Amino acid sequence: MNTKRNTMSVKKIRQMLGEEAGLDWVADQLTSVAQMYQLYESAQHEISTKLENLDAEFEVNYNHNPIHHIDGRMKDPQSLMGKIQKKGLDRSVNSIKKNIFDIAGLRVITNYIDDIYTVEKLLSQQDDVEVIKRKDYIKNPKESGYRSLHLVVKVPVFKAHDVETVPVEIQIRTIGMDMWASLEHELRYKTDVDRAEEFASNLVENANALFEIEQNFQDIHHQL
Ligand code: GTP
Ligand code: MG
Repeated sequence: MNTKRNTMSVKKIRQMLGEEAGLDWVADQLTSVAQMYQLYESAQHEISTKLENLDAEFEVNYNHNPIHHIDGRMKDPQSLMGKIQKKGLDRSVNSIKKNIFDIAGLRVITNYIDDIYTVEKLLSQQDDVEVIKRKDYIKNPKESGYRSLHLVVKVPVFKAHDVETVPVEIQIRTIGMDMWASLEHELRYKTDVDRAEEFASNLVENANALFEIEQNFQDIHHQL
């Protein structure tokens, strides 16, 4: 997986803030956020390891890799705060844990369309993985043309003194769907809203064309 751990230690936080008079509460807040991020990064790792293992097993048994590659990202604190505000949630770590499911995110890029559902099935049938949310934007593409299978799964993370089940958001999509999503994302952010409207139907057509091409590749793969 292409990701980096960026854990802040409690000791460093205390050193930074705890010694300043009156800033103990800031240090407390930062500490619980740092602990939360570390926990969610561990959950992300648990799931990506499971996916890498499944892919390796497939390679040995069927000489085929369903997974092209996996990307991971942690929601940055700024967009986490934005989401909390938008949803009108309490800022406490408890309320974040209860209501926000995409702090840890994985993007699984598959070689073929079928592989998306193979990955979903193999992961979700594992005893310690529970799917708590599922949106199939391949069967029902978004108005924009966006296609992807979105899952939120919960996985237990074993800590020093207890176990916590932690949600991880997984977007599973093919190379073509991923290419479309990243270009569309870039275009949308570079363009003002009115001009984006101009190209909307063009982008939907491109998404459909790419999907057709990937279905053709899938057919060839089946015939071989
Ligand atoms: P939030 O996760 O709270 O935003 O709500 P939600 O669960 O309803 O989100 P949704 O299922 O719409 O998926 C959100 C994520 O999917 C975004 O962060 C994007 O990564 C991706 N996504 C959804 N729609 C589009 C789209 O039209 N274009 C692109 N490029 N990405 C999209
Ligand atoms: Mg999201």
